[in-house]
Amino acid sequence: MFTNRSLVSIANLTREDIMHLIHQAEQFEAQPNRTMLSDKVVATLFFEPSTRTRLSFETAANRLGARVIGFTDPKVTSSTKGETLKDTIMMVSNYADVIVMRHYLEGAARYAAEISPVPVINAGDGANQHPTQTLLDLYSIYKTQGSLDNLNIYLVGDLKYGRTVHSLLMAMRHFHPTFHFIAPRELAMPDEYKLYCRQYHISYVEHEDFNAGVIADADILYMTRVQRERFTDLMEYERVKDVYILRAQMLKEAKPNMKILHPLPRVNEIAYDVDEDPHAYYFEQARNGLYARQAIIAHVLNMDL
Ligand code: CP
Repeated sequence: MFTNRSLVSIANLTREDIMHLIHQAEQFEAQPNRTMLSDKVVATLFFEPSTRTRLSFETAANRLGARVIGFTDPKVTSSTKGETLKDTIMMVSNYADVIVMRHYLEGAARYAAEISPVPVINAGDGANQHPTQTLLDLYSIYKTQGSLDNLNIYLVGDLKYGRTVHSLLMAMRHFHPTFHFIAPRELAMPDEYKLYCRQYHISYVEHEDFNAGVIADADILYMTRVQRERFTDLMEYERVKDVYILRAQMLKEAKPNMKILHPLPRVNEIAYDVDEDPHAYYFEQARNGLYARQAIIAHVLNMDL
């Protein structure tokens, strides 16, 4: 299913692979505490900040009985002395059975997977991919909609730098979605992903307006944060950072089944009054990350249930 048992890109997964991992996640959710990895060590190498991805991976490993090593800040590692990514990966693979890595460079995960003797799980590489987020997003969509097929999925906000929306778009090619891209012109979905849609016969509509009428037909409203850390021009960031804010009053025409997802962290793009609305699902979505990541760790170690 995965290249060298590593998970680098969501693009490698078939429909059957995705459904298999979703059903594995269901089983882990039914019983999260299992000691099936008591002889394993999981390394978490975070070259970029994270709350959910790192903590849910570490919780997943702990609930499976594995031990965890790693770092949350590259400044405390020998990369500050000039050690290369290659040497870091070769060293850590001496100590751990699987490496979970977040890196600021696009392609870093693929490179690590190519040289590593142990499986590498991409926990986000620059603006490129975030495949484990996508698997938890797919699990969340499946749980709330009962199916992944034929859904209207609205992606809102930073569609240029948002690696989670790029990965979700690619994964959904197996499930006949209709996408709606809602972004200011500066943060529009890049042409390469629109080309991908055309190549895989995925319907999409682009919008610049964001209001109750535009989102009335959504099954999934996927909000994203404008990613300050990816901008070279901070004036441009200031111009676009608050363009779209979802407020509770905008949900009056929403379909009953509609759920609001967000990979989190949020900044201003979802007002706090939305948290109490029955359409809000982002905190449950983050919890689903634990079960999806248990399924992924078990899978790359060839220990599916
Ligand atoms: N969704 C996500 O990747 O969150 P973190 O950056 O906190 O890991």
